[in-house]
Amino acid sequence: MILSIRSFALAVSLATSTQAYKTCVVPFGGPGVDDTLGLTAMLPNCSTDASIVFQEHTTYNISTPVVFSNLSHVEINILGNLDLPKSIPYVQAAVNASGGRLYWFSISGDNVTLSGNQDPEWGFIDPYGVPWWQAAPDTQPLGGLANRPHGFMINANNSIIRRLKVRKPVAWGISVAGNNNHIYDNVIDASYDLNNPAVFPFNTDGYDIRGNNYVIENGTVSNGDDCVAVNSGNNITVRNMVCEGGHGASLSSANGVSNVLFNNITSKNSLYATRFKSSLNSVGNITNVTWSNIYVLNATFPIFATGVYFDQNTNRGRVPGDYPANSTATHISNFLWTNITGTISDIYTGDGSCTTNPCWYNVANATNTAAVTLQLLRGTATNIRVENVNLMPIDGKGTPNVLCDPSSFVDGTSNLGFKCENGPYVPQ
Ligand SMILES: *[C@@H]1O[C@H](CO)[C@@H](O)[C@H](O)[C@H]1NC(C)=O
Ligand SMILES: *[C@@H]1O[C@H](CO)[C@@H](O)[C@H](O)[C@H]1NC(C)=O
Ligand SMILES: *[C@@H]1O[C@H](CO)[C@@H](O)[C@H](O)[C@H]1NC(C)=O
Ligand SMILES: *[C@@H]1O[C@H](CO)[C@@H](O)[C@H](O)[C@H]1NC(C)=O
Ligand SMILES: *[C@@H]1O[C@H](CO)[C@@H](O)[C@H](O)[C@H]1NC(C)=O
Ligand SMILES: *[C@@H]1O[C@H](CO)[C@@H](O)[C@H](O)[C@H]1NC(C)=O
Ligand SMILES: *[C@@H]1O[C@H](CO)[C@@H](O)[C@H](O)[C@H]1NC(C)=O
Ligand SMILES: *[C@@H]1O[C@H](CO)[C@@H](O)[C@H](O)[C@H]1NC(C)=O
Ligand SMILES: *[C@@H]1O[C@H](CO)[C@@H](O)[C@H](O)[C@H]1NC(C)=O
Ligand SMILES: *[C@@H]1O[C@H](CO)[C@@H](O)[C@H](O)[C@H]1NC(C)=O
Ligand SMILES: *[C@@H]1O[C@H](CO)[C@@H](O)[C@H](O)[C@H]1NC(C)=O
Ligand SMILES: *[C@@H]1O[C@H](CO)[C@@H](O)[C@H](O)[C@H]1NC(C)=O
Repeated sequence: MILSIRSFALAVSLATSTQAYKTCVVPFGGPGVDDTLGLTAMLPNCSTDASIVFQEHTTYNISTPVVFSNLSHVEINILGNLDLPKSIPYVQAAVNASGGRLYWFSISGDNVTLSGNQDPEWGFIDPYGVPWWQAAPDTQPLGGLANRPHGFMINANNSIIRRLKVRKPVAWGISVAGNNNHIYDNVIDASYDLNNPAVFPFNTDGYDIRGNNYVIENGTVSNGDDCVAVNSGNNITVRNMVCEGGHGASLSSANGVSNVLFNNITSKNSLYATRFKSSLNSVGNITNVTWSNIYVLNATFPIFATGVYFDQNTNRGRVPGDYPANSTATHISNFLWTNITGTISDIYTGDGSCTTNPCWYNVANATNTAAVTLQLLRGTATNIRVENVNLMPIDGKGTPNVLCDPSSFVDGTSNLGFKCENGPYVPQ
């Protein structure tokens, strides 16, 4: 306690040392002390023109969710490690008390820089997700424990998120809303053992993006869900990313998203390398989306679009692909896949996210060498093109196949770039 008061005093004296820009060092309370309390007490004086520093060589105990509100011109520097609580029942109770959705870190404001540390030993955010994933098989067929907490919700404009290292998140990693944000050099590590699919990191989306004018680059995501999911907005570039084990460079939305570029993405051992998904019976338009220079290593579905996605939990008992003829879907236009090379996973297809039979990702009539899969309802697509594709089954056997229905395309199939049928990939 004495330690805590002393470092608190240090923080305040640093905070008042310069008028214009304060440095607020987050006090470390010592063993067994929840450092969220000291941080929260300090915040009112550190929310404008300030640098909030979690010191290096310090492992902070962040037992309570942290809310940084209305920051303006603030840098949060995570130089030390942030240890989140290990007790699953304790965390579940916190999530339950918050109505079922809780982010451990909520940050809002303008001109915020959230920075981590590139020192190999410091700057880690540790939510201790592995025991949650290990417990998941006991909840089958639900897919993951109930009341999972998420990582970061950052609702900010003109902001930067860089060099964060999230180690073993429980569920979503970094969700960002707001405009004009730059996200780079982050590592989200929800890596899991491909040979033990029963222990699977459900819903560990790397990024969920909602807003205009983003660059997301130079990051690594190892996980069991979308690497980057663009959920809404305009003018979004995702580039130079390595995505491993998950559900790909993903556009997941029903309406209003436009001008999205996914470029130079390396995809390893993923269910999807690139994916568009929109829920069955959506209404809306998505336009101007490109996936280029995608290096695929061992993906079940390297090139994938569905307008008839349905969630395995909310659609229990229904078979994927089995929907009434009057179903609706989002209209997609000006989609381009170009320079897509690599290998299709045809030995062990799918991943541990499947908890039902058939699997939620099952596509009727798709083969296990599905290079291109366009699961689009009649008349729901315009100006779609797939070109410069070089994808081969990883075992070298069989042909890369496509799943394609000519009735999907309002403007016909002459500019599609390949022969539209359920059969081998034939460029044209
Ligand atoms: C973190 O703080 C909480 C609340 O004081 C305490 O119960 C817990 O044991 C602390 N954790 C560690 C690893 O010290
Ligand atoms: C905030 O700063 C003022 C002025 O420097 C100081 O008097 C006050 O104690 C500080 N409050 C906190 C919670 O640090
Ligand atoms: C943040 O504010 C600083 C100082 O006012 C300014 O120099 C910088 O350009 C701003 N950053 C952004 C991304 O707006
Ligand atoms: C698109 O986003 C980038 C990155 O934020 C920005 O520099 C550019 O001005 C935006 N373009 C338009 C047309 O808004
Ligand atoms: C991202 O990586 C590219 C290629 O290595 C580099 O040119 C660019 O400067 C990097 N971006 C940032 C913000 O560091
Ligand atoms: C492509 O991304 C990788 C990281 O996966 C990076 O090393 C490389 O420099 C990028 N290429 C270009 C041309 O930016
Ligand atoms: C390909 O991916 C599958 C499923 O994730 C995995 O079981 C298999 O080990 C991977 N193969 C290689 C060669 O990495
Ligand atoms: C989608 O685009 C069509 C044709 O441009 C338009 O008629 C329709 O209103 C749009 N739908 C939505 C939900 O914006
Ligand atoms: C889509 O791209 C075209 C061509 O670049 C552009 O004219 C159009 O405005 C874009 N659509 C949207 C909704 O931004
Ligand atoms: C499709 O038709 C069925 C039976 O008439 C009706 O119950 C359902 O609401 C319709 N669905 C849509 C999306 O229009
Ligand atoms: C596709 O790859 C070729 C050859 O590497 C390159 O010249 C071209 O610029 C790439 N296309 C795009 C859209 O990046
Ligand atoms: C699957 O293929 C069969 C035989 O060609 C066809 O009758 C059926 O409509 C196809 N189903 C889907 C969902 O494409």
